Amino acid sequence: MTTDHPTAANHKKRANAIDVEHLTVSYHARAALLDVSVSIEPDQLVGVIGPNGAGKSTFIKAILGFVKPDIGSVLINGRNVQRVKGQVAYVPQRGSVDWDFPITVQEVALMGRYQKIPWYTSPRKRDRQAAVEALEMVRMADFADRQIGELSGGQQQRVFLARALAQGSEILLLDEPFAGVDAATERAILDVLGRAKEVGKTLVVVHHDLATAGEYFDKLLLIKQRLYAYGPPEAVLEEELLSKVYEGRLRIFSDLTKRGEG
Ligand SMILES: Nc1ncnc2c1ncn2[C@@H]1O[C@H](COP(=O)(O)OP(=O)(O)OP(=O)(O)O)[C@@H](O)[C@H]1O
Ligand SMILES: [Mg+2]
Repeated sequence: MTTDHPTAANHKKRANAIDVEHLTVSYHARAALLDVSVSIEPDQLVGVIGPNGAGKSTFIKAILGFVKPDIGSVLINGRNVQRVKGQVAYVPQRGSVDWDFPITVQEVALMGRYQKIPWYTSPRKRDRQAAVEALEMVRMADFADRQIGELSGGQQQRVFLARALAQGSEILLLDEPFAGVDAATERAILDVLGRAKEVGKTLVVVHHDLATAGEYFDKLLLIKQRLYAYGPPEAVLEEELLSKVYEGRLRIFSDLTKRGEG
């Protein structure tokens, strides 16, 4: 067993996986996130919820170091995100990917290894191995030679999950992995996320379906520009809190919060 932590001289207790401190991010002088502070412990499956435009994707991109904060910082395993690029794996929101790009399933999975492959060499056996194992994990190994554009939406999503798994990062960020997939694929993806958690990964998943959020995740993070709540689902899926964040769009949620009352 190897670990990325050089523990010999490390007598500090294990750092949080992610520390977000006073994070403010703007686009064209409009704040998408405002003074968000939250710490995510390791080995958690965390759901990020909030209405459209709430800043969920921006939150994920800030943790990746893709967007620069106006104020505040993001620490990954206690170190500034700008210094640890590549330690966090990412599955982007589906609409943001060019599916006509001519590339096979196997090549997509192998892309997860590129950070580990020096520019002057080809992928080594262990890189190919990691890509194959990741495809097996999402049950897409049989499609290895297919063009990515020839797959269904749910299959494409699983291949992108394989790319993130192949990277071998401790932290995985997924932006709406269940969008546009059928119930069986949703279960299959959820199952892979659960297994990733069991082997010690920390997963932060943007999810828009409040009806399943409580069942799927250990903790929920409710966001709309500001952080409204972070904690166990029963504490976050609370009618007053949700009505404040979702305003008029609350019809299904009142069913949800009444469900437990019989
Ligand atoms: N590249 C960009 N340039 C300008 N404004 C942006 C950009 N990306 C996001 N925004 C704005 O920032 C706000 C937050 O967007 P973000 O994509 O983070 O929301 P979201 O919660 O992921 O929404 P959705 O549920 O629709 O995916 C929105 O008002 C959006 O219009
Ligand atoms: Mg988004």
